[in-house]
Amino acid sequence: MFEEKMPKGFLWGGAVAAHQLEGAWNVDGKGPSVADVMTVGSADQPREITDTVEPGKIYPNHDAIDFYHHYPEDIKMMAEMGFKCFRTSIAWTRIFPKGDEAEPNEKGLEFYDKLFDCCHKYGIEPVITLSHFEIPLHLVHQYGGWRSRKMIDFFTKFAKVCFQRYRDKVKYWMTFNEIDNQSDFNNPFLMATNSGLLFRKGENREAAMYQAAHYEVVASALAVEIGHQINPDFQIGCMINYMPIYPATAKPADQLLAQEAAQRRYWFSDVQANGEYPREVETYLQRKGYRQDITTADRMILREGTVDYVGFSYYSSMTVSADKVGVDELTDLHSAGVPNDNLPKTDWHWEVDPEGLRYGLNWLTDRYHKPLFIVENGMGAYDKVTADGKIHDDYRIDYLRQHISEMEKAVVLDGVDLMGYTPWGCIDLVSAGTGQMDKRYGFIYVDKNDKGEGSLKRSRKDSFYWFQHVIESNGADLDYGVK
Ligand code: BG6
Repeated sequence: MFEEKMPKGFLWGGAVAAHQLEGAWNVDGKGPSVADVMTVGSADQPREITDTVEPGKIYPNHDAIDFYHHYPEDIKMMAEMGFKCFRTSIAWTRIFPKGDEAEPNEKGLEFYDKLFDCCHKYGIEPVITLSHFEIPLHLVHQYGGWRSRKMIDFFTKFAKVCFQRYRDKVKYWMTFNEIDNQSDFNNPFLMATNSGLLFRKGENREAAMYQAAHYEVVASALAVEIGHQINPDFQIGCMINYMPIYPATAKPADQLLAQEAAQRRYWFSDVQANGEYPREVETYLQRKGYRQDITTADRMILREGTVDYVGFSYYSSMTVSADKVGVDELTDLHSAGVPNDNLPKTDWHWEVDPEGLRYGLNWLTDRYHKPLFIVENGMGAYDKVTADGKIHDDYRIDYLRQHISEMEKAVVLDGVDLMGYTPWGCIDLVSAGTGQMDKRYGFIYVDKNDKGEGSLKRSRKDSFYWFQHVIESNGADLDYGVK
């Protein structure tokens, strides 16, 4: 037998988000979310965000993989892999179809009752994100999304309803998915999905982002407090898209820029974990002359609603160069990025950096002194079904194997306190970034393509059996079936 690598009770599992797999976008009273007006794109063509659902366009989230009706079979397959937990989100628009109703939609609540009961039947712990890229469309059009302070009330009401209803069914929660994506505020897709901000002509995007994100961190802190009052055993985390930020060279200017970029990217989780704005961001807002609506009462809320753990996704690192953007001239993070020639890339041009995960686990521990949870990791790839109906995804196994190995070093050699590991898209689903089905992450293959064609049949890839062994050996056997 193997010597187990990871602590007892380590939460191995997989992660998805409601809008990327449930489908049933207008069933049982669900209202449209911002994800329902996003068309399909490709590796080189961004998704379009339309005002309403326009005839003749493909909106892949509408039907997705129809998890809404297939979940019993899907959860059973995850149980077969040995999952200890399953991360998904609650679609806000199933519970509050427009977002500002007085009463929740009972049918929506019932769906998640059934889903969580199904998980528990197999001993699988649900890990739930409240807001994962799917703000009610009505709140976007009527209130401008998170540019309005009213959103705090709408969100906390939604959170409270979920906490009360699932008090005894869900222990692990997260408030906002990848809240720090907004540091790339010139990316309209990221801003629409994270904050429901559709920019106005000529507006200062950076100032709008800081304001919207402030309301989000306040709402997140309030939700943490409400959740703990409802059930003191709840573990409520923040969730960031973590990427180590490397200097392009050993030049001090690159080092300074990398530090500045990290300050601009990680202030969201600084506030959520430490309960106050970091000095650098306060100074930056003053320096820029942004007159933000941040009240003394808000600051008290932030102090009282700090998170229990830091959840994060890890896909890639980022490298910045002062030749591109000078120190003190940095605005949006994307503008400072340069390719890192030391790293291979996926078919979607994402750099692959397993050691960055170990670096990150240490960096986040040093910064926050809180337990960590890797709630996404993985590689989007094209899969081929062979004549015998199998999917030999050795590239996926290779990617995950390298990342898990670095993760285990961080835990075993560096002493990082890590709660669990849930690779992204454990069952094939709609890509958030491109809307594609053919950008696949899963252990479970779903027969559906970018045009929306396919039988929706589920099959086990080679990585399914590999991950089953990883979990069974509690992370000791990473070599099952590896040639
Ligand atoms: C994260 C998101 O950014 O990355 C997921 O939380 C997303 O929703 C995942 O699907 C992978 O990105 P993509 O664009 O390949 O789907």
